[in-house]
Amino acid sequence: MGKPKYQDILDRLVGIGLLLASEKNLHKLLEKIVEEEMNFTNAEGGSLYIRRGKYLIFMVFRNRILENKLPRDTILKRIKKSKFEINEKSIAGACVKRGEIISIRDMSRVEELGFSYDRSIDRELGYETKSLLAIPLKSPEGEIIGVLQLINLPQESFTEEGLRLVRATAAQAAISLSNGLLLDELKKAQLDTIYRLAKVAEFKDRETGDHIKRMSRVSMYIAETLKHDPDFSELILYASPMHDIGKVAIPDHILLKPAKLTEEEFEIMKTHTTIGGEILENADTELLKVARVIALYHHEKFDGTGYPEGLKGENIPTEARIVAVADVFDALVSKRPYKAPWPPDEALKYIVSQKGKHFDPEVVKAFVDSYEKIIDLYEHSDIRS
Ligand code: C2E
Ligand code: SIN
Ligand code: SIN
Ligand code: SIN
Ligand code: FE
Ligand code: FE
Repeated sequence: MGKPKYQDILDRLVGIGLLLASEKNLHKLLEKIVEEEMNFTNAEGGSLYIRRGKYLIFMVFRNRILENKLPRDTILKRIKKSKFEINEKSIAGACVKRGEIISIRDMSRVEELGFSYDRSIDRELGYETKSLLAIPLKSPEGEIIGVLQLINLPQESFTEEGLRLVRATAAQAAISLSNGLLLDELKKAQLDTIYRLAKVAEFKDRETGDHIKRMSRVSMYIAETLKHDPDFSELILYASPMHDIGKVAIPDHILLKPAKLTEEEFEIMKTHTTIGGEILENADTELLKVARVIALYHHEKFDGTGYPEGLKGENIPTEARIVAVADVFDALVSKRPYKAPWPPDEALKYIVSQKGKHFDPEVVKAFVDSYEKIIDLYEHSDIRS
């Protein structure tokens, strides 16, 4: 150990590209850091890199001139979302190696200073980078966790006094960055624990844990489409993976039966809801409270014919009504020991046919409205493997 864990976290954030709400929050924070420094120094543009081991990872690009001239998407498409090795060839790399501000008043001389600098982006976007400051961002422990680059700054930024101010505000920014990365680490650790717990149940009857990742994302999409506030949608993302946690207690001969269950067996099967509710009982966090409600009620049906309590309509908690749709859709398109996978469009038709019966009509509408996004998600994971 000893190595900061957030590097692994970033690895996953950037590498796998999980669309986690925490990633969105971290990104917002990074953008804010860049914006504030640009405002403070009157720089035309700014970018931010985060350090991960031997690499710098490009995270944010802002430029007020370009943003007035071109749509943001066009700019972002031109910029490689890349990582590169830290060495003295790049300005940002040298900034990390040296642990100090690198200031270049005249970028036409950048090669003379020993740096290689890619001008193709400037050329393509019709822009000229004239001056640049690369500022190391240090954690309170003194470790360099990122680099902030500002471009096209007024001359006074390059004076002793100017640099002193830049250094001071960057120190402030580094603290929020450090806190942001730590918070992100905590959230990721929490989510990781959840997925692992949920996998305990999943492992018993499925080959992969993809199910929980897909259905939790679909649940979040539905919540977002229903215009639930982002915090609630995020909570559903985190809480829904635990919906079948109670299956740990179901005997394998029932869970893995490659055929239809008898009535008796199904009665036992149904207890995975109440057992899940018990496992998640008396928790203090909002997250586990929501998870408990979902585990307990995800098999309730809108018309009151579900289990374990036969709740009807609005009496079924919203989060359970949302997860019910995502869960059944995922079950239908997946291979189960007892059934072959359905084509997604057949599953969609089934969901729609159950409007007002099994499912809340509004949730079905939101599911249909987000269907393109959902299909995209499924096409990018191997449902049948
Ligand atoms: P699951 O496999 O995750 O399925 C979740 C829900 O998706 C089911 O809840 C059901 O509402 C829907 N679903 C899944 N497959 C089909 C299908 O082929 N047709 C239709 N119309 N709906 C489907 P349900 O029925 O309450 O079952 C809960 C859990 O009980 C299932 O979770 C599964 O683990 C188990 N189970 C249900 N039926 C059988 C079965 O015939 N054999 C076995 N071995 N297990 C079953
Ligand atoms: C979250 O990660 O947003 C949930 C926080 C909690 O309730 O523990
Ligand atoms: C319960 O029925 O166990 C409690 C109801 C709820 O948590 O909404
Ligand atoms: C899943 O759990 O849905 C994927 C694995 C499988 O279908 O067996
Ligand atoms: Fe279930
Ligand atoms: Fe399920």
